[in-house]
Amino acid sequence: MLQISDIIVKKRDGHALTPEEIQWTISRYARDELPDYQISALLMAIFYRGMTRVETSALARAMIESGDTVDLGYLDSLPVDKHSTGGVGDKVSLILAPLVAACGVPVPMMSGRGLGHSGGTLDKLEAIPNFRTRIEESEALDILNDIGFVMMGQTDSIVPADRKMYSLRDVTGTVPSIPLICGSILSKKYAEGAKALVLDVKIGDGAFLKTRTETIELAKSLVSLGNDLGMRTIAQLTAMNQPLGNAVGNWLETREAVQCLRGSGPDDVMEVTMALSAQMLVLGGKAETLAEAAECLDSALHTGKAMALFRRMTELQGGDLSVIDDLDSFVLPSFTKDIVASEDGYIGSIHGREVGWCGVMVGAGRQSKDDIIDPGAGMIFHKKTGDAVSKGESLVTIYASDVSLIDGAAPRLSDAIDIVEQPVEAPPLIDMLIDPAGWIKKC
Ligand code: URA
Repeated sequence: MLQISDIIVKKRDGHALTPEEIQWTISRYARDELPDYQISALLMAIFYRGMTRVETSALARAMIESGDTVDLGYLDSLPVDKHSTGGVGDKVSLILAPLVAACGVPVPMMSGRGLGHSGGTLDKLEAIPNFRTRIEESEALDILNDIGFVMMGQTDSIVPADRKMYSLRDVTGTVPSIPLICGSILSKKYAEGAKALVLDVKIGDGAFLKTRTETIELAKSLVSLGNDLGMRTIAQLTAMNQPLGNAVGNWLETREAVQCLRGSGPDDVMEVTMALSAQMLVLGGKAETLAEAAECLDSALHTGKAMALFRRMTELQGGDLSVIDDLDSFVLPSFTKDIVASEDGYIGSIHGREVGWCGVMVGAGRQSKDDIIDPGAGMIFHKKTGDAVSKGESLVTIYASDVSLIDGAAPRLSDAIDIVEQPVEAPPLIDMLIDPAGWIKKC
């Protein structure tokens, strides 16, 4: 008979688990038959010892089997989704989903919450008062059929194992593990019914994995496992050296996403959004080439079609449209503080991971599993890498509901921004593309 303690010891000692052992563990954990403390120990053992491709595939399949799978086979067009491996200031999903849907590709998007130092799409959507991310499958299908996309969290019946493991990983230091990231992302995407997938694999200081080699390994694992599961999967590496856009924090990012949909968002956010969206249109068969895809996306943006779809989704999911229609009507936290330049020069770098943790410190993320997020907390950057700055000029404004939270985060945020004497160039945003044949294209 299998015992969880034996399975933990086997992985701790560096041996490969059998698919049966993985399936046994995951199914029992999803049914609350194994305690968090034992699964935490197993997650830590997996973090240090890794998993083979066979184990990772068994993990993804066991996670899928922990719940139901949505069948979208009835749709006329191929449902395509995108998922990011996690970044800071990454509000791309909020812009991309309505844009891609406006071009005729169905997007059944099931997202996660903030994890570690990185933000999560569900927390950003829930910053819109009353917005419901917990919706049942039948309602989600109605919304998808009506407007071509839906943005939601896992229902109780879809990948329950990931919902539990995700929040445990968040607080046990076990997020940056290639097999755990692969299992988490691919199980959700498969179960939601996506037939093709564009992965935004973040690379740089604000990403979960530290080195380029590990990041490419993650991208290749995701692409090969996604395709093994029957989803046409590609991975686009994108820069996460500094926060994406100017806003970090849930409402501030949702506000910036709406500005992007209205055509006035920051260039870096739009560049990443357009690149990933174009890949989705090609994978979904709505464009032959990336250039053709770009034309359709430009038109969806500039005619206001994508914005109208975002608005409609907000309405259907119970969100308060008044804050979307008048972005200034959202009441921001009472306390703010500016971090100012200590000297003249140029922004040499902004350490994305540190910025993410400062966001958590001011209430935009969770330090422990049951923490409640402050939707208005976060920061707005006024300067990004490469910008010239003068002594005393504001680099970033912090927003929080308690002055002690600002006082705690401000010195760390200040240390996260380097000012240098000579001009520097921000690194390119769109890095390599990894496709199912294992080809790596430098973009
Ligand atoms: N996004 C997920 O859904 N899971 C991870 O493990 C990392 C990013």
